[in-house]
Amino acid sequence: MPKLTVLDLFCGAGGFSEGFRQMGFDVTHAVDNWNPALEAHKVNQPETEVFKADIASLDPKRFPRPDVLIGGPPCTEFSGSKKGGGGDFAKGMKLVLAYFRFVHTLNPRWWIMENVPRLLQTLPHRVRLQDMGIPEDGFFDIPRREVFNSADFGAPQKRLRLLSGRYPTPVQTHFEESTLTLDNLLYEPWVHMRRVIDSFPNPIGRIPKGKLVKDPNYQISLPVEQLEDHFMRPEDALMTKTDAERNKKQKVAHAYYGKMKFPDDLDRPSRTVMATQFNGSRETMVIAVKHKGEIRYRKPTVRECASLQCYPLTYKFPAKTTTTKYKLVGNSVPVKLSAALAKAIIFEAGMDVPVAPILTRVAS
Ligand SMILES: C[S@@+](CC[C@H](N)C(=O)[O-])C[C@H]1O[C@@H](n2cnc3c(N)ncnc32)[C@H](O)[C@@H]1O
Repeated sequence: MPKLTVLDLFCGAGGFSEGFRQMGFDVTHAVDNWNPALEAHKVNQPETEVFKADIASLDPKRFPRPDVLIGGPPCTEFSGSKKGGGGDFAKGMKLVLAYFRFVHTLNPRWWIMENVPRLLQTLPHRVRLQDMGIPEDGFFDIPRREVFNSADFGAPQKRLRLLSGRYPTPVQTHFEESTLTLDNLLYEPWVHMRRVIDSFPNPIGRIPKGKLVKDPNYQISLPVEQLEDHFMRPEDALMTKTDAERNKKQKVAHAYYGKMKFPDDLDRPSRTVMATQFNGSRETMVIAVKHKGEIRYRKPTVRECASLQCYPLTYKFPAKTTTTKYKLVGNSVPVKLSAALAKAIIFEAGMDVPVAPILTRVAS
């Protein structure tokens, strides 16, 4: 049976694509305008043709009609962390409208646009075609909008995401604690951040030789010598005592925003993985470590963030700087959420779901 095809707009490093690829879809094309994103997508999902373009001025007719059109236009202008929630809405909407223009022109059977829940406050139910750059009378309707929690689909992260479009409901598999569903199936308990942190050797210091690292999300393991983006020098990894104090103050005693745990609670799914992980920032996750007999604090490594986003251990982020790697990872749709959506579409199409996620092993 031929595979269902996918076009991924604003593809980033490929989190959204990867869930569909793991479920046996053919992600034929992926578009972004940022080289590190395109390189990451290409090296990990080489069967997809990547396209560098500004989607705002790209002609949708350059692509064949896909079965599924997925995409995550940038959310910075809508997110609460941008200028305390005062981002430029019109600027953000320009790319959302560009995505809608693709949906209207290519008319896929399913489409899913991912963004931050805050967009729900302002996203209209229908948009004038002329506002999308289509010189016709009439409207574009957005049939569905719903916020999902990635932890409910097995991600070790409580990332809330707004999914707009035309798509079947993904089947929830996890709940805060192990509970029976209405039809007597068992929800598994949420996966906690500790499962990710404990899967890896201590990132500071000597690399242990001859050990295997087990993937916290998949049934694969990797020789520790092949583990990328994890080991760090203590001076790069550890927060200075001043930074740690400042971070703690911002978290536990912030005047306007809610209180946060310091250090982060490992016995919960993690908070949202952000695109920046600065030592001083309130949004940065903080992990306590014992170093030379003292309790010190560090941020998660790029690899730990990637596992919180459910990327397999073999997934590569071939960027020049650590800042770019954190951005590629933090921008992503958690792969387990995307795979749950892919599965729901396979059911609706009456096709067979793979018994296990199809993983690729990228040669090092
Ligand atoms: C939120 S990220 C998408 C992440 C992706 N869905 C994933 O799961 O990994 C948004 C992406 O849009 C890209 N982007 C921003 N403006 C763009 C434009 N005008 N044209 C094409 N891509 C753009 C950024 O480079 C970034 O990679």
